Amino acid sequence: MLHHKHLIDIDEYSVEEITEILDTARSFKEVNDRTIKKLPTLRGRTVINLFLEPSTRTRTSFEIAGKRMSADVINFSASSSSTKKGETLADTGETLNAMNADLIVVRSKQEGAPRLLARHVDAHIVNGGDGKHQHPTQALLDAFTIRERLGHLEGLRIGIVGDIAHSRVVGSLVPLLVKMGAKPIVIGPPTLMPSEPGWWGCDWSYTLDDVLPELDVVYMLRIQMERLDGAPLPSLREYTMLYGIDTARLAAMKPEAIIMHPGPINRGVELSAEAADSERAVILDQVNAGVAVRMSVMYLLLGGDNSGLAS
Ligand code: NCD
Repeated sequence: MLHHKHLIDIDEYSVEEITEILDTARSFKEVNDRTIKKLPTLRGRTVINLFLEPSTRTRTSFEIAGKRMSADVINFSASSSSTKKGETLADTGETLNAMNADLIVVRSKQEGAPRLLARHVDAHIVNGGDGKHQHPTQALLDAFTIRERLGHLEGLRIGIVGDIAHSRVVGSLVPLLVKMGAKPIVIGPPTLMPSEPGWWGCDWSYTLDDVLPELDVVYMLRIQMERLDGAPLPSLREYTMLYGIDTARLAAMKPEAIIMHPGPINRGVELSAEAADSERAVILDQVNAGVAVRMSVMYLLLGGDNSGLAS
């Protein structure tokens, strides 16, 4: 069991709790590989996916995760919800509360939206990405994928490359990795770096080529065009020349190093087609892990029973 009602900031979770989520996700991964991928664990529970910002894989992944555990899953998207008509998030929350939702996954442009919602509902809240703040289930599925591929997290040199300043993926991934004993380093152009890149307690660099040969994991990010707020951007051509993974950089990586990306990829910008489709890329493993990890999070938060789950 987790000692939390919600999953909003990964910082609030201990090493033991993160490990429990990852270990439980392994059992769910086995369920996902079965022909009949359905468990009765969350039968009768209602999960609401409140997505106020576009999403494909995260929303679908939560939906599949809930359905595989027999929960009733309802999707609210920005275009179809009353927030479009001017309703506040608090009022939307109270409406969902009156419908006895058990767990709400919320994605919003607004940093802090999941915390605000948590004050207005009885349901468990899972942060599905809030502005450029956090995306905790992404960090958990990334950690799961690294553990599956490389066996452990401790001591690994993990380079996170690109738009560090506007990425909520970094906001959860770096604290999780530091907690779990990995050695993350954030890498990107000065204009896409936070003003104090070392504040997470990790290393940072402006030059990918200096650090690439020492990395065990090369984690590429998309430039968050929708969140740049006028920040000066190097031309995409220059960005790709300095920070994109192409044939030459593939060759400069450690032989066993892997390439990760949260998706969606901008092919030809942060990854060449060759890099995205190479044996080193574990991007679809990340998507696969996403379902198992979200099942694990919902299961542990809702305290489901063990029926059908391998021990
Ligand atoms: C990320 C997101 O939305 O924060 N994608 C995702 O959830 N898989 C990263 C991104 O959009 O670049």
